[in-house]
Amino acid sequence: MLYTFLYRQLYTHFAWAYDAVSWLVSLGRWDGWRRVALDFVVGADVLEVGSGTGELLTALVGRGLTVTGLEASAAMHAITARKLTERGLSVPRVQGFAQQLPFADRSFDTLLITFPGGFIGSAAAHDEFARVLRPGGRLVIVDVALITDNPLLRLLFSLAFPPKPQAMTRLHKALNDSPLAISRQFVGQGMARVVITLGEKKPSPPYPSGWLNRCKM
Ligand SMILES: C[S@@+](CC[C@H](N)C(=O)[O-])C[C@H]1O[C@@H](n2cnc3c(N)ncnc32)[C@H](O)[C@@H]1O
Repeated sequence: MLYTFLYRQLYTHFAWAYDAVSWLVSLGRWDGWRRVALDFVVGADVLEVGSGTGELLTALVGRGLTVTGLEASAAMHAITARKLTERGLSVPRVQGFAQQLPFADRSFDTLLITFPGGFIGSAAAHDEFARVLRPGGRLVIVDVALITDNPLLRLLFSLAFPPKPQAMTRLHKALNDSPLAISRQFVGQGMARVVITLGEKKPSPPYPSGWLNRCKM
């Protein structure tokens, strides 16, 4: 409860402090961890869900991808807008919720989510992810697991991200029930291991279902 309240404050009233706080709790590694997501992009049309202060949007545009950012917080959007203007970039962005994506079915090749909020345990959000992905498309979720003995980093991390068994149970259930084919990969990054959860949407069959049977008749 307390943490939910504090996170909400960080995403809204204190959004101006988000980049500094995420840098601090990771001792400067946050952006490196987040950028691991770039190696898992498929296709050209990418939606970032929970785009925060827009750093990954900038990196995606830099790779020549067609990018859209979805973010719930108006304060995060304001910071992103300022950064993009300063960088001479224009990226379509939408204020909205992961649980009700304002996009047509089969709109994107990749959905990226780095350091997701509580919405990641919502079955409604996972149904939406599957709906807006094209056949052959991919959901990429980036999180991090700490494997360091560095006491300072461990302390910062446990303060910022205390273990939340109920949230983990919800997430596991949502992933189990996901219409996508879920798998996991771990990428070594110094003192941490970046945890990549992938959700693949089956490619369309080359011919409509039942086509073969009809040919045999
Ligand atoms: C931990 S931050 C991650 C931001 C960014 N992806 C990063 O890597 O730093 C989570 C972000 O998700 C946004 N968010 C929370 N709930 C959301 C929802 N239901 N739909 C869309 N965005 C949401 C928050 O406002 C916040 O910007």
